[in-house]
Amino acid sequence: MSSAAALDWMKNSPIHGLTALVVGGGSGMGEASAKAFAANGGSVVVADLRADEAARVADEIVSRGGDAISTGLDVANAEDIAASVEKTLKRYGKLDALINTSALVKPAPLEDGSIDEWRRCFQVNVDGALLLARACLPHLRKSPCAAIVNVGSLAGEHGYARGGAYGPSKAALITLTRQMALEWAAYGVRVNVVNPGTIDTPMSRAAVRPEVLAERAKTIPMRRLGSPEEVANVIVFLASPAASYITGQAVNCDGGLSQSLFPQPMGFDPPRRPAEWTAAPSVPAPFTRRS
Ligand SMILES: NC(=O)c1ccc[n+]([C@@H]2O[C@H](COP(=O)([O-])OP(=O)(O)OC[C@H]3O[C@@H](n4cnc5c(N)ncnc54)[C@H](O)[C@@H]3O)[C@@H](O)[C@H]2O)c1
Repeated sequence: MSSAAALDWMKNSPIHGLTALVVGGGSGMGEASAKAFAANGGSVVVADLRADEAARVADEIVSRGGDAISTGLDVANAEDIAASVEKTLKRYGKLDALINTSALVKPAPLEDGSIDEWRRCFQVNVDGALLLARACLPHLRKSPCAAIVNVGSLAGEHGYARGGAYGPSKAALITLTRQMALEWAAYGVRVNVVNPGTIDTPMSRAAVRPEVLAERAKTIPMRRLGSPEEVANVIVFLASPAASYITGQAVNCDGGLSQSLFPQPMGFDPPRRPAEWTAAPSVPAPFTRRS
């Protein structure tokens, strides 16, 4: 049966009235997701290891007329999680979406990185995601449009030179997401993961020198880094009822990087289409929503 209804979900957001817990919301893609969710009429609990940053983001949302509170938590700590979920329920009485963008990136070579560092990476990136989801599940099950969105990485699909435990932990997170999706579809809870490419956030700026980031941008088919807002668009879409039939998916948001086997320009001799391919400027973002 076809529907003649206008495709107006982008104008008339179905996020209005929903509540999201955004973990890692104190910076980067989590911050952008919290702001986008709130800007579309949702209520947001901004949670982060750095409680001060979570409070800053919540304050900014409220100062723009949005609805948000903040909480400090370590995703690897079950008691912290329980307290944050309780705070969410106390304030909003329900939970419709869990967005988890938190991660520990601790590059250490596989050959001699300490096993404690390896474990801590899995504790935050994998155990933390499971603990969070389990704590939220009883409340998500009561929502008519429940969703969990995790944030993985291309490193979880392809590995990442000198990334140590990071890539393996993100691979586990991607599979954990699919497993949750299969087990919890019966409860009406959708679970997806977004895999960013190289995104211009405090995390990437702390991990990679600016000149190296600039060189890396040239190897991305779209020839630029992504913005946190561009990834937040995907995250918030997957968290919203607009994505009602999508579950168990890993969605890459990477300017084409994951599909690009050879760095560009590819150095054909003689050069083909040099004007378009080798001298092409980066493809600009269609819009920005920077605060
Ligand atoms: N930036 C990139 O290029 C890139 C690429 C691929 C994947 N990612 C992934 O995207 C996600 C977001 O990254 P970002 O670049 O926005 O990073 P970010 O550093 O800007 O934000 C991450 C936030 O998570 C919080 N956090 C860290 N450990 C936590 C813990 N134990 N408990 C609660 N909060 C914790 C941090 O305090 C920080 O505010 C991460 O999962 C990261 O692995 C980032």
